[in-house]
Amino acid sequence: MKASYHYMLIFLVALILFLNDAHMVSVVDPTYGFVQIVLNESNFVYQKPYDTPLDQRYIYKNGTHRFWVYADDKPFSLGSNTQPRTEIRLLPNYTSGVWQFEGLAFVPNGTSGATIVQVHGAAHGNTTALLRIYNGEMRFYSTQVIDVDLYDRWFKVNLIHDVDGGQVMVFIDNKERFKIHDQGPGLLYFKFGVYGAPTNISYYMESRWKDVKIYKRC
Ligand SMILES: *[C@@H]1O[C@H](CO)[C@@H](O)[C@H](O)[C@H]1NC(C)=O
Ligand SMILES: *[C@@H]1O[C@H](CO)[C@@H](O)[C@H](O)[C@H]1NC(C)=O
Ligand SMILES: *[C@@H]1O[C@H](CO)[C@@H](O)[C@H](O)[C@H]1NC(C)=O
Ligand SMILES: *[C@@H]1O[C@H](CO)[C@@H](O)[C@H](O)[C@H]1NC(C)=O
Ligand SMILES: *[C@@H]1O[C@H](CO)[C@@H](O)[C@H](O)[C@H]1NC(C)=O
Ligand SMILES: *[C@@H]1O[C@H](CO)[C@@H](O)[C@H](O)[C@H]1NC(C)=O
Repeated sequence: MKASYHYMLIFLVALILFLNDAHMVSVVDPTYGFVQIVLNESNFVYQKPYDTPLDQRYIYKNGTHRFWVYADDKPFSLGSNTQPRTEIRLLPNYTSGVWQFEGLAFVPNGTSGATIVQVHGAAHGNTTALLRIYNGEMRFYSTQVIDVDLYDRWFKVNLIHDVDGGQVMVFIDNKERFKIHDQGPGLLYFKFGVYGAPTNISYYMESRWKDVKIYKRC
């Protein structure tokens, strides 16, 4: 009698822990309530080391964008002091409302210290959100961990910028992983590809992307 009560208690505690955990990482459709913005080639602005042809740092094949860059590559424009990058900057620019970037990403083991997607622009600073891969972890800028074990597999990224509410949210594989205040409104846009972090960057950096979409809340 006493023993079965004991087991019941353990079961209940386990159930509560399970439900709590399931709630925290519940699977949702991050695009619910949003409308898709139709993109074509005119929405893509390519950035790559200024002295290197695009086809030596980027290839689009079978629906997959593959971007790569080396730590000793030149910046995207002559005279810029920024780290090397091969990125697509997406139009439209936005200044208000609630916007969302979605894509399937693949980062090979070995790429580290690379921003793979960002919200450029802010009232304070140059950027609102940089999602970087360090040693298979995704971090918000340099330190805050968003998710782990991301090397060598496709994962879905949904990056929501609620300009009106001043908030940024990150979903990985349809699970909410991160939420933070933004840096105020500005001239804003999404970018994806590879962009070297200030420190701790691998010599070779690569990301692949497919099914890239932009949405806006109606
Ligand atoms: C591509 O998109 C732009 C901006 O949305 C639009 O003005 C243009 O007509 C589109 N071009 C084609 C070929 O669909
Ligand atoms: C092309 O892409 C499709 C859809 O992602 C995939 O199933 C297929 O294996 C790819 N083919 C090659 C040759 O990579
Ligand atoms: C987007 O913003 C950039 C400034 O960063 C500007 O040069 C460009 O003309 C803008 N494009 C559109 C279509 O508004
Ligand atoms: C990445 O590669 C390193 C070196 O080859 C290896 O030790 C490590 O286990 C790999 N990590 C993953 C997640 O595959
Ligand atoms: C913002 O961008 C400018 C131009 O690229 C650069 O000079 C400046 O250092 C950047 N500021 C920060 C905080 O990164
Ligand atoms: C960079 O590497 C150093 C030495 O391993 C470490 O102390 C530091 O935390 C790393 N920085 C980031 C942003 O990972």
